[in-house]
Amino acid sequence: ARKIIIDTDPGQDDALAILLALASPELEVLGITAVAGNVPLALTQKNARKICELAGRPETRVFAGAARPLLRKLVTAEEVHGRTGLDGPDLPEPRMPLQDTHAVDFIIETLLNQAEKSVTLCPLGPLTNIALALSRAPEIAPRIREIVLMGGGFFEGGNVTPAAEFNIYVDPHAADIVLQAGIPLVMMPLDVTHKALTTRKRLTAIRALGTPVALAAAQLLDFFERFDEEKYGTDGGPLHDPCVIAYLIKPELFGGKSCNVSVETGSELTMGMTVVDWWRVTERPHNALVMRDIDADGFFALLTERLSRL
Ligand code: BDR
Ligand code: CA
Repeated sequence: ARKIIIDTDPGQDDALAILLALASPELEVLGITAVAGNVPLALTQKNARKICELAGRPETRVFAGAARPLLRKLVTAEEVHGRTGLDGPDLPEPRMPLQDTHAVDFIIETLLNQAEKSVTLCPLGPLTNIALALSRAPEIAPRIREIVLMGGGFFEGGNVTPAAEFNIYVDPHAADIVLQAGIPLVMMPLDVTHKALTTRKRLTAIRALGTPVALAAAQLLDFFERFDEEKYGTDGGPLHDPCVIAYLIKPELFGGKSCNVSVETGSELTMGMTVVDWWRVTERPHNALVMRDIDADGFFALLTERLSRL
């Protein structure tokens, strides 16, 4: 199985990504590292544990990481995710422990103990933990097989400012470090995730599985989609973070191209904008495989089938 570390700020869509990963035998989740993002760290680390317990996997190791971005003040997204970050179902308080080790130490120690190019990092929130690990221990870079992250937007624009997507906006300096680290990187921007909509039909298929996990998943998505439906009038909300995990299982669901991505860290107007050289008009090195297309029906079929296993 492919070894992964999920770095996350749950978040309903993060929760679905964790469920998808834990349900997939192709993946071995070495640990889950929490970061501040959608809600503060105290909630994201707790939410990660709630989801592991929901999945019936309380032995999964969950670590708490950075409580704030590298330089900027933390911006959260309660208007999208609710006060707890996981509004929707009534999930019990977790009984499984939070690990004592700091998430950044866990990432560094794990990578140093693994073979070259053997571990894939899956960032689903602001990139603070990953940037801290790379800055403290640059020697971990060759151990990383790939970083597959949800973040950014190019033709699609931003979802927190006209220019910036939330994960990159919250910690643009961290994103800049990660993008410039010279590590193979796959980026799932809003251009992809805005096509992965939780339509009525798709939610009905998940609910129809009838298991406690499927019901909780449907309740999470019901809450999450309200925001986009009400604001933009779409049929369902975009299911961002599970695209990262689906790519690891079925890369053929996605299409994109290799190009240069740079992050704006100077201008307030476009802070956190991902400038994607899609048409390769510069000589800047290709540092990311940037996705643009998704087989959304195939993606939801995979998600639904995997949820049925939990
Ligand atoms: C990203 O921001 C968060 O609100 C979601 O969990 C996702 O990771 C989408 O912009
Ligand atoms: Ca997230």
